[in-house]
Amino acid sequence: MDSANNSDGDVPPGGGRPPGGAPPGGPPVRAVITLVVNGTEHRIGVDTRASLLDVLREDLGLTGSKKGCDHGQCGACTILLDGRRANGCLALAVAHDGARITTVEGLADGDRLSPLQEAFIEYDAFQCGYCTPGQLCSATAVLDEAAAGWPSAVTPDITAATPMLDAAEIRERMSGNLCRCGAYVNIVAALRDTAERAERQSAADAARATSAASDARSEAIGHAQGVGRR
Ligand code: FES
Ligand code: FES
Repeated sequence: MDSANNSDGDVPPGGGRPPGGAPPGGPPVRAVITLVVNGTEHRIGVDTRASLLDVLREDLGLTGSKKGCDHGQCGACTILLDGRRANGCLALAVAHDGARITTVEGLADGDRLSPLQEAFIEYDAFQCGYCTPGQLCSATAVLDEAAAGWPSAVTPDITAATPMLDAAEIRERMSGNLCRCGAYVNIVAALRDTAERAERQSAADAARATSAASDARSEAIGHAQGVGRR
């Protein structure tokens, strides 16, 4: 029988290394990188094999982002990486030198929760809470993506300026975030309610801006007529 592998092809204890020998590939290689996490700059030495998720959790102590599968399949580790959602477990930290990252710890404004966080509480959109940080980061990005006019695979009119976030859109856009407790119905409701409030707010802002522009125009006409009469 081969001295390094048994007849089933398994690697023997010790990985076939000579006793006391160096690990294959030599010692870990480290690099110094800069990450701006939740507005704070960190200059940090990392193992070049480390994922952003591990650096955030193990080196920076930000344990809000969770490790579920460590394979890009559950979404528990979702963070905002340079404004876009990403799976922290699949991102090599050394490849993101200089990146701006938002984790669940950075969604609130001090003690004031984000509208989505408030809605998750109001709609009871979690049970054990393990998936919730990833759900919140992902949902935050969903609102931004829809506001920017990004269509999804189920958007009926891909030319729409801002796709409407109905239940089908939300389910599709949040499909990368699994919840083992099955809190999906309430997660969709929380996101839908937040999206509706944002839509109402932006309609009210637009109406106020139109009214202010109309007042300014009337005032300008009044001044012009006054000047003309003198
Ligand atoms: S831990 Fe990253 S996707 Fe599951
Ligand atoms: S609330 Fe438990 S996994 Fe989602």
